[in-house]
Amino acid sequence: MRAFDLPDLSATAALAQALAPHLRAGDVIALRGGLGAGKTTFARALISALRDEETEVPSPTYTLVQTYDGADFPIFHFDLYRLDDPNDVVELGWDETVSGLSLIEWPDRAGQHLPAWRLDLMLEIIGDFRKARLEPHGEDWQTRLHEL
Ligand SMILES: Nc1ncnc2c1ncn2[C@@H]1O[C@H](COP(=O)(O)OP(=O)(O)O)[C@@H](O)[C@H]1O
Ligand SMILES: [Mg+2]
Repeated sequence: MRAFDLPDLSATAALAQALAPHLRAGDVIALRGGLGAGKTTFARALISALRDEETEVPSPTYTLVQTYDGADFPIFHFDLYRLDDPNDVVELGWDETVSGLSLIEWPDRAGQHLPAWRLDLMLEIIGDFRKARLEPHGEDWQTRLHEL
């Protein structure tokens, strides 16, 4: 587990920029944390880092998924808060995400469809302070986190 302080938006951007070069097609990042913790903000920073340009990233609250062209692979940004049934992820193109990077807000809504091999990024507000904790699931993620 690695922990980072995120006092402001530039700290979130810096963490996203540090992580971006370690990512590849097939990766899954579960963005955890309550409402307003900064999940969409982190996704926005990471998508911008992977595209090498500031990118407009609306919250996929209603669309449930938004797709972006990254420099090297597509990026699938999910917000599953409004998902009624875990099996509904299949209709969102869940099986095609192996070709790119998946960023998933409210990942537990996917139930058994959530891949076991993934990076958990937990965002937390403590008082007026923000923190990110990165928890690798799988040996490969562990190795990559060491290199961060
Ligand atoms: N590291 C940060 N420092 C300060 N404000 C932040 C940070 N990350 C996010 N925010 C702010 O918190 C609010 C909620 O962020 P958002 O990413 O929409 O949360 P979530 O997707 O987890 O509900 C936004 O106004 C955003 O600008
Ligand atoms: Mg959000």
